[in-house]
Amino acid sequence: MKPKVLLYKPLPDDERQRLATHFDIMEFDGFHRDNEIEFLAALREAEGIIGGSGIKLPTERLEQAIKLKVASTISVGTDQYDLDYLASRNIPVMHTPGVLNETTADTLFTLIMCTARRALELSNMVKEGRWKHTIGPELYGTDVHGKTLGIIGMGRIGQALAKRAHLGFDMKIQYANRRRNLQAEQDYKAQYMDIDSLLASSDFVCVMTPLTAETAGMIGEKEFALMKPDSIFINGSRGKVIDESALIKALQTKQIRAAGLDVFQQEPLPADSPLCQLDNAVLFPHIGSATLETRHNMVVCAVDNLIRAMSGDYSQNCANG
Ligand code: DGY
Repeated sequence: MKPKVLLYKPLPDDERQRLATHFDIMEFDGFHRDNEIEFLAALREAEGIIGGSGIKLPTERLEQAIKLKVASTISVGTDQYDLDYLASRNIPVMHTPGVLNETTADTLFTLIMCTARRALELSNMVKEGRWKHTIGPELYGTDVHGKTLGIIGMGRIGQALAKRAHLGFDMKIQYANRRRNLQAEQDYKAQYMDIDSLLASSDFVCVMTPLTAETAGMIGEKEFALMKPDSIFINGSRGKVIDESALIKALQTKQIRAAGLDVFQQEPLPADSPLCQLDNAVLFPHIGSATLETRHNMVVCAVDNLIRAMSGDYSQNCANG
């Protein structure tokens, strides 16, 4: 008999087939009020689970998964689970680092360019017929090339961003991280510093740190107050890493120039969020890794991870090992 696996995100046919050759799949399109009873019944039977980061499975849910051996997520982020709780049950959480670094760095750079050059605001002006004459300084953007980029969280994605900024845009790179990243220092002349110094001296601040108990709310009112008045804030990690109300205030009062956000405290972002009213906020619907190629590679990686881990091999891509 094949082990039972709970699949809670639609997969492309080829990868669903591959999963089905190894496991007896119990399939759900997400987890919501309408399928709660069936989903929780399947969770109690599952030896493996596989799905995306959008579905939160807190400890009280996972306590019901009494047969669980492996959790595999189609994401690099793992904040939808309590990693320590799963580690205490010797359940590995497998994730997909590596395959999404370049695409996510492209997204972050898009946010940098769009905010600096006011791309969406000006595009809307053209589309809405408000382009009546040559624009003046009140609508000019600010340069990206040659500026200072501060990266908070110099992991794989941070490094891919530093590569673009340093090699392509001649930017000065500085970073704050739990530990030094000597590779980034060597390859991109990145300068290591504490967060406060980074905030006070960067033209662009990009947060790329994972959401953990330590990083939750790490950028708030005090931190935005340290930033330069012309600086731009980018968040590509998780919404809860920052205090969103403090950011809104900093944008409304022009304490900082602009923000580019791919992640929010609540996703999808409610349409009545004050962020939606701000010309100096560029908002993406959590699309860091959302290209056809990369999302497919992430699924392949997550299926591989599950197959390997279910046979006892957690040597690659285990987030809580
Ligand atoms: C990730 O991989 O963690 C992305 O944020 C998509 O969820």
